[in-house]
Amino acid sequence: IRRPIVVLDGPAGAGKSTVARMLARELELPFLDTGALYRAVAYWLQRQKVPPEETPDLESRVLSLGVRLEGERVLVGQEDVTAAIRTEAVDRIVSLYAALPSVRRGLLELQRSQAEQGLVAEGRDMASVVFPRADVKVYLTASPQVRARRRHEERLAAGQTSDYEAILRQVEERDRIDSSRECAPLRVDEGALVVDTSDLSLPEVVDRLRRAVEGRV
Ligand code: C5P
Repeated sequence: IRRPIVVLDGPAGAGKSTVARMLARELELPFLDTGALYRAVAYWLQRQKVPPEETPDLESRVLSLGVRLEGERVLVGQEDVTAAIRTEAVDRIVSLYAALPSVRRGLLELQRSQAEQGLVAEGRDMASVVFPRADVKVYLTASPQVRARRRHEERLAAGQTSDYEAILRQVEERDRIDSSRECAPLRVDEGALVVDTSDLSLPEVVDRLRRAVEGRV
């Protein structure tokens, strides 16, 4: 049987990574976190002092960074950036670089090339741009307060300092940039199953999505 392509889009903190990872494990499919790719590119370009502005050579520059995935690890060239891309500093800048069309073009083939064995992929434009012919499209969402609360608790659980109000403002700001950008904005694709996770437990969400996949392939 053909391996399905299952995609999850939605705003920051809706639970996409956790849900998609668990779903992939249950369905025995590879998992693709596309946010990690945008984070790696943003982190690296900023380190190279490339400002978040469109320039003619930016796409080839992104391609030449050599962003790669090795299981759960994210590499840029030979350097493992898995931990470095999960900081508040990267949270603050990633949407600025992700809004640039040439950055998005530079990551398109890498994302599509991961789908040969089917996959569960999560991001912002999975259904609309990267995998428009996906077997199952899901839009996962939750209220900004619930999403900020989750991120806050994650940080505290990881032993980091955290400020709920600051996270809430940042969640809202990132939503605003991701939804209003001209290139591949975050939106609900027609054909997507919309799941609001505000009042659902993690197993409930995963179960609902697994049934949606089983019903369609
Ligand atoms: O999902 P995550 O929070 O790691 O994504 C970080 C940022 O990367 C998002 O806020 C968005 O700006 C960008 N992104 C994107 N398209 C994707 C995945 C992430 O623009 N497919």
